[in-house]
This record gives sequence, C-alpha cells and structure tokens, in this order.
Amino acid sequence: MAEYPAKVYLNGKILNSEDAKISVFDRGFVFGDGVYEALVYVNGKLMFEEAHFKRLNEGLEKTQIHFDSSTLCKEISRLLVESGLEHEDCLVYLQITRGIAPRKHSFPFNSTPTVMMYAKSMDLPGINPIHAKVITVPDQRWLRCDIKMTSLIGNVMANNIAHSQGAYEAVLVRDGRITEGSHSNIFFVKDRIVYTHPANEYILNGITRKVAIEMCNKLDIEVKFEAILENNISDMDEAFLSGTTTQIASISQIDDHIFYTNNQTGTITKQLQEVYCELKK
Ligand code: PDD
Repeated sequence: MAEYPAKVYLNGKILNSEDAKISVFDRGFVFGDGVYEALVYVNGKLMFEEAHFKRLNEGLEKTQIHFDSSTLCKEISRLLVESGLEHEDCLVYLQITRGIAPRKHSFPFNSTPTVMMYAKSMDLPGINPIHAKVITVPDQRWLRCDIKMTSLIGNVMANNIAHSQGAYEAVLVRDGRITEGSHSNIFFVKDRIVYTHPANEYILNGITRKVAIEMCNKLDIEVKFEAILENNISDMDEAFLSGTTTQIASISQIDDHIFYTNNQTGTITKQLQEVYCELKK
C-alpha cells in the first residue's frame, strides 16, 4: 500500500483509501470523461495554485463539465491535515469526472460530477538532479492536447515505449515537429535563445512551462514560440523538460544525439533550475 495515499477525498468525504469506491458507471471510468490537475505542496504552500485552478476551470469549461471548483482549495487544506501531510512536501492530485450515468456517448443531462483528490508525500529536490535520456515517439494523440483530461492513453502508450527502452521520457513528434513530452513540456536552447512549441491544441500549456517563460523574461533570455523539427535536434545547444513534478530537468540525450556527457547541465538550463529552486522557498 506504500505507493498509495493513506486518504482519499471523494465527493466531500475524506476516507481511508481502501474505502474510497466509485461506481463502475462513472463516465470517468467508462469513457475517461474527466479533467484533472497535479500540483505540488512545497514548504507549506500549494505552488502556483491560482494558475492550476485557472487551467482546471478552463478544462471544465472546454469539456462542459459543470462544476464549481471554488471550494476545492479549502478542501485541499482539509485533506492535507487529515492525511497528516500539512508539514511535508507532497503531490496533490485531483480529478473531476462527468459523473455516473447509463453508458451513452452524448452527455447526460443531470449527472453530478465525481470529485476525487489525494495527497501523497513526495521528495522534491531543490534542483532535479536527473540528466535525462529521452527518446522521440510519434505523437498519435487527438487534437485537443491543451485539455488536461484523464483520457491519457496516447500519453501512456508513448511513455511506456520510453520506459521499456530505459528512457526517462517520450518526446512526441507530430508532422516532424517536436510537440511536448508524454507528461512534461520540452524546451530547446540555441545561441542563448529558448524555443518552446506555441501553446495551441498540440500541447498542454504547462504551468511550469509558463513559469519557465516568465523566468526567461526576467533573466532577459529571448523566448521563441516555435516548434523544433526532429531533424534539427542535433543543431541545438541544450534541451530541458518542465513539469510540476519534473520541475526543470536537464536532457542529456535525445535518441542518438548526445548534448552532454559527464552529468553536465547547459548554462541556460542551470540558470533556470537555480531560479526555479528559489521560487519554492
Ligand atoms: N503532467 N504536458 C503534459 C502532457 C503533461 O501531462 C504535463 C504534466 C505537462 C506539464 O504541465 P505542468 O507544468 O502544468 O505540470 C505537460 C502531470 C504532472 C501529470 O500528468 O502527472
């Protein structure tokens, strides 16, 4: 049970996780019909809470799941206390599905959304020490990757290919362009210019991605919102991943292209890692 959280919040109640049960007719279970957020609670605060809730509300709107998320922040505090985690760094996962209804593709009129959350202790090192080896995998997901939804089979399958090859992350490629990672965003650096895929339907606009862009702006590092071609990876100076749990992670190798050996980190990547580390204090 160690990998599971002790407590689960389910529709207003905080339960021992083994007692948290949902209906097999929940549309989250049947269709993956739901949205989610993953946040970290570090040094007693939910990092970038406002941005996560803004994205959650946008996801609810885009999927037409009618749910008022405004009470959830308070409920997260209650969950942290009841889980005995208010003084620890942890991951907070929350998901909202369209709720229970007889199986039919079109939306039910009056289902009540199912809300599930949990908090789990997590070690978040000041700077992510990984020097990630990643591989490219075809991006075979649908065309609304901007929605943080629970239907993640495209991401799951891509990530599993990477995992089975001992790689840290699958870097997704659509029409020759690098979009994002299976559970992270990717950035490249060339001649001190930082490149990231534009925030459109092909990527999830990560909160950490936005923070990385803001950090670049503050550091006077130019950011270009342009996708890098798979064929141009070898021309790049640096590459890094961003994500709530990934933080800012240096990439040492993509497929056969080696950026760094000997656990080096690129100059810009390192600068951003250091500034990001300060934000957690
Ligand atoms: N994943 N792109 C995808 C496809 C993601 O799943 C994630 C996050 C990101 C980075 O977003 P953010 O910086 O807001 O975490 C980008 C989370 C952590 C997950 O699914 O567990």
